[in-house]
Amino acid sequence: MRDRVLATFPLSEAALSRLKPHADVTVLTNPEDARFSAALAEADGMLITPRIAIDADLLRRAPKLRVISTHSVGLDHIDLEAAEARGIAVGHTPVLTDAVADLVLTMILMLARRIPEALEVGRSSTWQPIPMGLDLRGKNLFIIGFGRIGQEVARRALGFKMVISWFDLRAPETPFAGATRVAELSRGLADADFVSVNVDLNAGTRRLIGRDVFSAMKPSAFLVNASRGAVVDQAALTEALRTKRIAGAALDVLDPEPPPAGEPLLHMSNVIVLPHIGSATVETRQAMLDCTLDNLIDCLRGEPGRFVVTRRAGARRGNP
Ligand code: DGY
Repeated sequence: MRDRVLATFPLSEAALSRLKPHADVTVLTNPEDARFSAALAEADGMLITPRIAIDADLLRRAPKLRVISTHSVGLDHIDLEAAEARGIAVGHTPVLTDAVADLVLTMILMLARRIPEALEVGRSSTWQPIPMGLDLRGKNLFIIGFGRIGQEVARRALGFKMVISWFDLRAPETPFAGATRVAELSRGLADADFVSVNVDLNAGTRRLIGRDVFSAMKPSAFLVNASRGAVVDQAALTEALRTKRIAGAALDVLDPEPPPAGEPLLHMSNVIVLPHIGSATVETRQAMLDCTLDNLIDCLRGEPGRFVVTRRAGARRGNP
């Protein structure tokens, strides 16, 4: 019997051709589609994105499932314990590190050099007033979450002559020179000119960046978030920005996504909002797709799979 795969995002002809020798593929992008439940009931493998929540209820409706391969590094949309308990392999795509780190530095530069205002002035006929920005040289960057992405942010920021400190419950697998670890979140926050959030979303990090964090930051400091929207308490952030408790924020992620039109953060002049483009480069999205298909095919064939986080001793979960 050939394996069956339910894909919940559109696949190119090239991707379908890669899968063809290994499985019969059904593409259904809408879980409300009447055919979804039937395809789920027969699926040996699933291809998903963070748009689809894999919870215990969905897993119950997929009794044959052996592999879930998500087109994301983030795994917060998957109940990993429930999957593990069923022996289902879960693969992800930790191949977007550089793209996300590039975007974090872009956001820091946009805030420091007031690029949104400069774009407005550049389109005007007067080219006045010139927005005066800040040098990055010598500014303190505090990185919360020092996994792959946090470290790549640090590498780039060192090139801009920033002073880097970081907080993480886990130390990097290989020691990182040129950045100082702080034992307490509050200590790093107090000195920071920029705070970059690079944690994964889990029970311990949900709303981690809330009122206490903003109270500990300098009024001149900026928040940058390219991890998950739910890591930040958006009501507390809105309040901190409205009262000038902090100077500004750049957010590539919100909760929910896309945000409702009335989301206050969309309408604040000291906030830059991007539509979750951390991994959105041609090269990185292709690498993610290749990785997603590799994980699925390997696991369907009973092989370990390169980026499989369940059923693998020592597989690194933690900050992306
Ligand atoms: C990821 O891969 O987790 C990125 O945030 C895109 O969702």
